Amino acid sequence: MNNIEIIEKIESTGTASKQELAFLLETINDSEFEVLRKKAQKKSLDHFSNKIYIRGLIELSSYCKNDCLYCGLRRSNKSAVRYRLNKEQILSCCNSGYSLGFRTFVLQGGEDGYYTDEVMCDIVSEIKSLYPDCAVTLSLGERTEESYRRLFESGADRYLLRHETANEEHYKKLHPSEMSLANRKNCLYTLRKIGYQTGAGFMVGSPYQTYETLAEDLLFLKDLNPQMCGIGPFIPHKDTPFANEKSGSVRLTLVLLSLVRLMLPKVLLPATTALGTADGQGREKGVLHGANVVMPNLSPTEHRADYLLYDNKICTGDEAAECIKCLSNRMKSIGYKIVTDRGDYSE
Ligand code: 5AD
Ligand code: FES
Repeated sequence: MNNIEIIEKIESTGTASKQELAFLLETINDSEFEVLRKKAQKKSLDHFSNKIYIRGLIELSSYCKNDCLYCGLRRSNKSAVRYRLNKEQILSCCNSGYSLGFRTFVLQGGEDGYYTDEVMCDIVSEIKSLYPDCAVTLSLGERTEESYRRLFESGADRYLLRHETANEEHYKKLHPSEMSLANRKNCLYTLRKIGYQTGAGFMVGSPYQTYETLAEDLLFLKDLNPQMCGIGPFIPHKDTPFANEKSGSVRLTLVLLSLVRLMLPKVLLPATTALGTADGQGREKGVLHGANVVMPNLSPTEHRADYLLYDNKICTGDEAAECIKCLSNRMKSIGYKIVTDRGDYSE
């Protein structure tokens, strides 16, 4: 099969073999890239028209007990400035976010022991009682099934946990020995089972990644069938073991966004901040390749510059209001509009 046939097969059946996916990823040329882009854009226009959903990202904590080799917040990074937000600070972010039109709050943080189930459930239920029309998304890493259940019962609607790579050997090269892909996958299937709208995802161009491991990522996503999927280029952080590795390719990231759009037509797919960092027009390109979500930062400006997963992150000095204005203009310039609905997944 040639690349156009593989693309058409994915478009009509929602999948392809690992060999076909890896071959396409490796050899897609510029005209095939444009064919793929048009199909993915059409798919997202068919399901969402020109609407782009916004999610307000609140970065709760830069403390992390993990030591992932790629991440600037890894515990071994002694140069990282650590902060955590308390309940009042989080509620204040939600309050300003609500006024700006956000109806989804994403509470993301390193794996920080401060946020016990008691602490988190209290925060989640308070947000849900103050803003009953809003969705709460959590992105707090790996927790126990019991913990995920308690958070769900306190009102959390969605959970983001990127699988990072679906290949066992690759996973081991990116993570310390105490972490495992099996546990990661288990968390994701548990989240789905509990009833969360669940998000997985991965970086493009992380060290030791191959076209085969990327094909495995796509097939894993197909199997998990998540409601959300986060994909962005790997960008090195200067104080990590991967400081001298090269950044992931923007073009390949766009290919993967388009493939995910064709394989999971209704998935909520952000044009990520990492994509916007790797390329000044990255988020616009992401949307034109099938993405339909943007996630501006609602964290307090005084802590923005301390939540650095990678170098040169954009928007670390901007107020949320400025980012919304900036993103609205960017989306308008390519014929899309930011909408303020909750933007839940619908079958
Ligand atoms: N470059 C790009 N993305 C990164 N992440 C962590 N470190 C980096 C990096 N150096 C991503 C991971 C994580 C998400 C919150 O950010 O995929 O799941
Ligand atoms: Fe933050 Fe453009 S989105 S300044």
